[in-house]
Amino acid sequence: MASSKFKYLTSEDVQHFLTKGWLRVPGAIKQEYIDTWMADLWTRIGYDEHNKSTWDEEYLHLPRHREVPVEDFAPDAWNKIVEICGGDDRIDPVRERYVGDAFIINFGSGDKTPARQEHDPRAQNGWHTDDDWYRMFLDSSGNALTVIHVFTDIPARGGGTWVCEDGIAGVVKYLYDHPEGLDPPIKAANCEHISSCKEFSTVVAEKGDVILLHGLLPHAASPNYLNYARVISNPHISLHSPYNLNRPNGEYTLLEQVILRGLGRDSLPEWKPTRERKFYYPRNAGFKRAKAKIELERMVRAAKAKGLDESAVDSIYLRRDTKAFEDFEKRNGFDKEVKDGEDGLLLEQHKLVWA
Ligand SMILES: [Fe+2]
Repeated sequence: MASSKFKYLTSEDVQHFLTKGWLRVPGAIKQEYIDTWMADLWTRIGYDEHNKSTWDEEYLHLPRHREVPVEDFAPDAWNKIVEICGGDDRIDPVRERYVGDAFIINFGSGDKTPARQEHDPRAQNGWHTDDDWYRMFLDSSGNALTVIHVFTDIPARGGGTWVCEDGIAGVVKYLYDHPEGLDPPIKAANCEHISSCKEFSTVVAEKGDVILLHGLLPHAASPNYLNYARVISNPHISLHSPYNLNRPNGEYTLLEQVILRGLGRDSLPEWKPTRERKFYYPRNAGFKRAKAKIELERMVRAAKAKGLDESAVDSIYLRRDTKAFEDFEKRNGFDKEVKDGEDGLLLEQHKLVWA
């Protein structure tokens, strides 16, 4: 697809996304959401912002208490997202259509700061592509884009996400070779080649930036050597139908072009999934949602300390018996069945382990 077909993506944007698998949209988040959602971050986690000895964990994933439609949150990013996906009619009208305050905080740790200057991304075990809720095939579009919403500045060495730009080829080859698909947890099966990759980039960003990653771009947490609270969220853009990797007219979306490019192919007439598609309750929601109750208690306590009552607290978890809550559940896949067996729900958050 020629870049001139796009109204919002520049030709540089298109080239960057096709060759590196990601794109930055600077300053795209509306300031009001950064201000209001960040206001009670420290209340929610129960750490003292000004006393690092209270920062017990190096890394935290939080649940979502508030959410708004993607286009309201970051309109300039939404315009580019629609073009990358090939039109808003390809985007799932319900699933992942809202974004929220499920913060991911990388605090770093004091001992890391002077002791170790660099970690080699190739040596790390945390490389993955996001998927905790569906059987993943080469043409799966459940996580079409992994989105990074940047809520604090992320300087160099400040724990910005690592991406492996030449790693997509190995991921798509793995998925091509496994038409039976992969069920969550994928356990980095499609990322074992990263140790021999060469093109890595670490996210450096300013508060308000939106970074769009192709859903099959391998990424990993990187060490925060600066020991400050780096805050992002990590929602996804979901399409309602699988990619078409065999379009007779060759009019592939940018998402599809990245996959074909990784395989060095113009079309894939021979490739078909060999098992049925399956969708599950998101596995990682287990440990995140378990935190919602205690966060809510802290939020209510903080409101009462200010002489306010519970109604002053903005959380979907205070509106459990409403249509709004039912819609929230559907948008996030919480209406789906938990996958059978011990892999169904992850109840403990993973920790960062550095090689
Ligand atoms: Fe991820």
